[in-house]
Amino acid sequence: MNGLLSWLMPEQASSFAGRVDALVAFIFLICLFFFVLVVGLGAYFIVKYKRKKTDYLTSPIDDNKKLELAWTVIPSILLVIIFAWGFRVYMDFAVIPPRAMEVKVTGQKWFWTFTYDNGVVVPNEMVVPANKAVKVLLSSKDVLHSFYIPALRVKQDALPNRYTSLWFEANKEGQYPIYCTEYCGTQHSTMVAMIRVVSEDDYQKWLDEKASESSDGMDPVALGKKVYQENACFTCHSIDGATGIGPTWKGTWGTKRKLTNGEEVLIDENYVRESILEPMAKIAAGYQPVMPSYQGLLNENQIEGVIAYMKALKE
Ligand code: CUA
Repeated sequence: MNGLLSWLMPEQASSFAGRVDALVAFIFLICLFFFVLVVGLGAYFIVKYKRKKTDYLTSPIDDNKKLELAWTVIPSILLVIIFAWGFRVYMDFAVIPPRAMEVKVTGQKWFWTFTYDNGVVVPNEMVVPANKAVKVLLSSKDVLHSFYIPALRVKQDALPNRYTSLWFEANKEGQYPIYCTEYCGTQHSTMVAMIRVVSEDDYQKWLDEKASESSDGMDPVALGKKVYQENACFTCHSIDGATGIGPTWKGTWGTKRKLTNGEEVLIDENYVRESILEPMAKIAAGYQPVMPSYQGLLNENQIEGVIAYMKALKE
């Protein structure tokens, strides 16, 4: 039954996907059957029992025990089946196997960060090995977000000040979108990340690469550009002069900026560093104080990269 609605559904890429789809298809078929039955009979009766003469009186209607019993008992049995079936799938989803590896996922306006056991922190891209149970430990740095991977049929809210979790076993290598499904502010719809399901070997390779990825030696401007893209800075800051949620980076280095408190500040290394780590300290006039802190997300090398990149965007 699980392939019945596959043309309506996202790709199936986890051990849950087939089971969820089968249940949805079952419920859909029941709904379809009763819809046709009720509407069909209704239409048929309209024609059949249309009053043909104005003096026609409806014959007295008695109850029909058999019919009433049937329309009570049959739907009740169907409901119990749906409940029991749904409960089994839900319990398997709710009980996280102890063997599962763990990835910590943090939502914040407006991106996801993924933290692995060895300390690797990656924004907007999740990489997991195929055919292995993965536990996702969710939290939020600001408001309510919701972590949703349609291809894996898993979804869970991410809350501030509290952990929630989900688990899955992805069984098909590939790349699938991750969405935020809880309205969390103006850029909610851009809060999109990717999950890459790879082989165990490729996963280990990727993890080692990330862990050893020393930003030393990389050209600072190139590093800054990479940080700008990977951390989705572009969501708010343009590099072509366009106005966004935050000020553009183009042509601002070394200029003076008006702040909401009326003061002026020179856009230099210290101002940029402070704005990355403590965005609320100085708010540019005309903009909302909505930038999240990147404390703990970016290391000194990466901050220096951003500064180099902004210098390169001077004109
Ligand atoms: Cu985060 Cu919507």
